Amino acid sequence: MSKQFCMEQQRYQFEYSVYDSIDELSQEDAALLREAQQATHTAYAPYSQFQVGAAAKLVNGKVLCGSNQENASYPVGLCAERVLLSAASSVYPNVPIETIAISYDSGQGNSDRPISPCGICRQTLVEYEKHLGQPIRLVLGGIKGKVFVIPGSTLLLPFGFSSEDMEKG
Ligand code: THU
Repeated sequence: MSKQFCMEQQRYQFEYSVYDSIDELSQEDAALLREAQQATHTAYAPYSQFQVGAAAKLVNGKVLCGSNQENASYPVGLCAERVLLSAASSVYPNVPIETIAISYDSGQGNSDRPISPCGICRQTLVEYEKHLGQPIRLVLGGIKGKVFVIPGSTLLLPFGFSSEDMEKG
């Protein structure tokens, strides 16, 4: 008698909003994206010349910024998102983040489409969300062009590793 296998196909999908430009955003999101654009000027990126700025709006109304900080020993460098999350957690521990805006200046004048966080930053965002029990919205845009609004960071990292995975053993 042959063994019956029961394979099941799963689908992962999520919804996000696409705006034609910063002018279509709510006043609050537009202001936060402008903060992120400004924060690109504080980047220390002499190796890549790729300056990234991030700005967080916390539930207590405070706004904090971060930018990428590189190092001659390349892997030592930090992305803007993790600089920002470390700052937020140190200055306002246990205060959830409502929204993070991320922008960049490539140094070549073509900052005209959104970039999204790298894998390590996604993992960090997911734990921040989980720890403080609130989704972190992402507003992603260049200096000009389309803007993406993603309702929660965990959407960008299905199957991320979590402390619960360590308890399963
Ligand atoms: N970078 C960020 O700061 N955030 C991202 O989401 C992607 C990349 C930085 C890392 C490095 O300093 C430079 O951009 C080029 O990769």
